[in-house]
Amino acid sequence: MTIFNLGSINADHFYRLPHLTLPGETLAATSYDRGLGGKGANQSVAAARAGAVVRHIGATGADGAWMRAELAADGVDCAHVAEAEVASGHAIIMVDASGENSIVLFPGANRAVPLTALEAAMATAAAGDWMLMQNETSAQVEAVALAKARGVKVAYSAAPFEAEAVRKVLADLDLLLLNAVEAAQLCAELGTTLDALPVKAVCVTHGAKGAVWHDLAGQTAQEQPAFKVTPVDTTAAGDTFAGYLVAGLAEGMTPPQALRLAAAASALKVTRAGTAAAIPTRAEVETFLKDRA
Ligand code: RIB
Ligand code: NA
Repeated sequence: MTIFNLGSINADHFYRLPHLTLPGETLAATSYDRGLGGKGANQSVAAARAGAVVRHIGATGADGAWMRAELAADGVDCAHVAEAEVASGHAIIMVDASGENSIVLFPGANRAVPLTALEAAMATAAAGDWMLMQNETSAQVEAVALAKARGVKVAYSAAPFEAEAVRKVLADLDLLLLNAVEAAQLCAELGTTLDALPVKAVCVTHGAKGAVWHDLAGQTAQEQPAFKVTPVDTTAAGDTFAGYLVAGLAEGMTPPQALRLAAAASALKVTRAGTAAAIPTRAEVETFLKDRA
């Protein structure tokens, strides 16, 4: 099954700092690096490294050829990544000594995804394929409609979180991915409890505590404890989890199987600095799991 990922593509600028900057403070970084990122691109790389067939839908500026090349090097199809008239998206990522991060995001071309690119990609989709989305691009509502019309399942990773963006697509999702803070915010804003959300399934990640898959149709829950690791950099851990989870489901895994794979992949990511480049391969994840069996 193919995964169609409507997703952001960013140039990530990483700064390691003794602590995250305070208002009014000037602070020298101890290191600087640049690499491919964006929640969408990270999720495409994760799903591709998990072994899935991935078609990325998105946009970069004229300065984005190196980012498309990096995605393509991971086997991600970039035929439907358009070149927009605006600059590529980028992110300023600050990581402190404990691995915690703070991110400034410039959306740029990610908010200018042409509907023609989306339509052309979805014309190749078949029933049973998956569509994955986050909240860093334009065209999510149109993407859900196209996916539903073709019998494609939709997973939405609601980051960066905006309750209104979730509300617009919620009823048509097969899977909503949230962290614990986002889940609490969504329930507060919609005036409901998690179990009463009008969606088939919700997967909530609880950081170092693990993840819970809530099957709202069947009113059952599956828990996956987190694998214990020493954190170096938590950036893109959620993206790694989302990409691996949907890849697992797309290859026919049950939710508990896919959860375990995703938890292992994101734990491994946390032990490495960086975003897309630091996402582990399937072979690395299988070895990690075998050592813990
Ligand atoms: O989730 C991590 C990502 O968030 C980074 O790669 C950055 O580009 C921002 O989109
Ligand atoms: Na993240």
